[in-house]
Amino acid sequence: MQKPPTREQLRRALTQVEGDIRWWEPLAPLTSLHVGGPADVLVMPAHVADVLQIVRGARLGKIPLTVLGGTNVVVRDKGIRGIVMSFKQLTNICEEDRHVVYSQAGVRLPRLMQFALGRKLSGIEWAAGIPGTVGGGVAMNAGTRLGVMQDVLKAVDFVTSHGKRKRIEAHTLTFLYRKTMLPKGIVVGAWLQLTAALKGTIQSVTKDYLHYRKTTQPLTLPNAGSVFKNPDGDSAGRLIEAAGLKGLYLGDAEVSLKHANFIVNKGSASAEQILSLVRKVRQQVARKFGVRLQLEWKVIGER
Ligand code: EPU
Repeated sequence: MQKPPTREQLRRALTQVEGDIRWWEPLAPLTSLHVGGPADVLVMPAHVADVLQIVRGARLGKIPLTVLGGTNVVVRDKGIRGIVMSFKQLTNICEEDRHVVYSQAGVRLPRLMQFALGRKLSGIEWAAGIPGTVGGGVAMNAGTRLGVMQDVLKAVDFVTSHGKRKRIEAHTLTFLYRKTMLPKGIVVGAWLQLTAALKGTIQSVTKDYLHYRKTTQPLTLPNAGSVFKNPDGDSAGRLIEAAGLKGLYLGDAEVSLKHANFIVNKGSASAEQILSLVRKVRQQVARKFGVRLQLEWKVIGER
């Protein structure tokens, strides 16, 4: 096992970096599930130039670097060694060209939607109710049954693993269900091709869809979205419910009574409890139906 980096090594990697730097910072408040231990150091870079600096510094010092979006992820209880980056300060957004919106990676999807609505631009109504960021949404090809990121993505503002910035055109990328095949590196922004529409139409589509999600999903309790990907031709929620697992719990972690493909944190669940519940659900569904569910969440952090 790799030895964790020392404070001195971390400090060296972060020299000249502008932004908020916090040592041994708890990550639970940054995640939608409200679980996870501390980062050795959490950095919220002020500019994309700082991201380049951090990537180069981490590479040079052989320090693990993790980008934390926070909404589709479980951070383990021991937290994350090395540098964790959050893009909470990379939140610029503008209409760069006619109907083309440029958004930095840290912009939350609800804000992007508000921005588009204000300019009477349609194309991202599918994101209604998704709390994630633009960066996370691009990397995982976020979507709902109304649409997916790839439908509107024009190009990705990208930082390579060597710390170089480049623009990647969307037509050169392959998109899978909940995954964009990107080279090794970090999404720092995206250009989205939207279309002109009537404000009322955008609003009514969004409202109906939000209503659907609010009535079918436990959006008022800490959660990380769908736990599993839908297997071909079926739905994980249906299978988990049919296996009789709704309401199964471990401490404060519970398979939602509202939607079986959600696990909610009813208060002080740990990552370990949540992950044990995931294993139980997977085992039971495999035993009863012979279907091996695949996790949609990312699990990160020290074991
Ligand atoms: N179902 C059940 N029991 C449940 C939940 C669902 O039987 O407890 C059944 C429903 O009755 C329905 C089917 O399963 O027939 C599908 O359910 P739903 O419409 O809720 O959609 P989903 O396939 O479970 C997907 C996305 C969601 C997205 C919704 C609505 C995946 C893994 N999930 O859910 O995305 O909000 O459609 O568009 O593709 C996310 O990815 O984090 C997410 C929330």
